[in-house]
Amino acid sequence: MNKLLLSLSVGMIVLMLSACTFGVNPDGESITVFSERHYDTDQILFDLFEQQTGIRVNVIDGGADELINRLENESEDTSADVLIIADAGRLHRAKTKDLLQPVESDTLFENIPSNYRDADNYWFGLTKRARVLVYHPDRVDPSELSTYEALTEPEWEGRVVTRTSTNIYNQSLMASFIEIMGEEDARAWAEGITANFARTPAGNDRDQSKFVVEGGADVAIMNTYYIGRMMNSSDPFEQEVAETVGVFFPNQDTTGTHVNVSAAGVTKHSDNVEAAVQFIEFLSGEEAQESFANANYEYPVNENVEMHDLLKSWGEFKAQDINLSVLGENSYQATIIMDEVGWE
Ligand SMILES: [Fe+2]
Repeated sequence: MNKLLLSLSVGMIVLMLSACTFGVNPDGESITVFSERHYDTDQILFDLFEQQTGIRVNVIDGGADELINRLENESEDTSADVLIIADAGRLHRAKTKDLLQPVESDTLFENIPSNYRDADNYWFGLTKRARVLVYHPDRVDPSELSTYEALTEPEWEGRVVTRTSTNIYNQSLMASFIEIMGEEDARAWAEGITANFARTPAGNDRDQSKFVVEGGADVAIMNTYYIGRMMNSSDPFEQEVAETVGVFFPNQDTTGTHVNVSAAGVTKHSDNVEAAVQFIEFLSGEEAQESFANANYEYPVNENVEMHDLLKSWGEFKAQDINLSVLGENSYQATIIMDEVGWE
């Protein structure tokens, strides 16, 4: 009698468990995302995607190069369906290593302006950031600032900081200049900016603005979202830095401010391409874009979506008018030039 009860209740539990699973994820469909992003709000979006589609999202976090190497090593055995990376240059690297596949999607074409996606549709920008001039208002009046090029003038000698040339953000900045100015002028810019550095390049983007507030330099070249992240940091000095500095968008009367994107592509060996595309479409849509961009104080690529209040406070700006594919295409040449002019 007891045995019968026991097996009945075990049977009930098994039934209940499978009913639960069935309710959430009817056919057990799932995708795996290799992502450089790791924000709590992303998980809320992924849960929403699962509710709407029944497709579960497994996320594997890692650094960009680490994830690209892993994709390469796993080759056709990879579990990854989607790769999300925070730089168009690196996405291009994944494309040239034959790790992604092209996607035809009217939804993506509609939601994402053409200059923020790969010309051959191997990756799609989801959020964008600007690489701006951050200055100390006690030592620089914004009226003294104009363009990236003007910072190579003698009056800025010993007053400018940015990170090393091994960093992809600066490689992408240089790559954009090669596209816009041509190689010769881009080299002259790299030479001139290196001559005006306040110190041998060191540290990350945040460190450049900290150095400005500490008095080591007057202007830093860095990405906008770090200001938002420092403003909301638990470190009081980071808050102070973010509240002290001014943000200036260079080249507004000329070629525009340099922008770069976080972007996603479908992996070449995905075994669920349809769901992978559906996922990227979801992230580019109006419902997801605001929260996806705000998680890192970035600009949504979808033009129907409002930007974060902090970004609104800086005002609208004119971005470089180039297809971001060139950031990857010119990045090798960019590193050669920066190396040649002695930008460490
Ligand atoms: Fe970053």
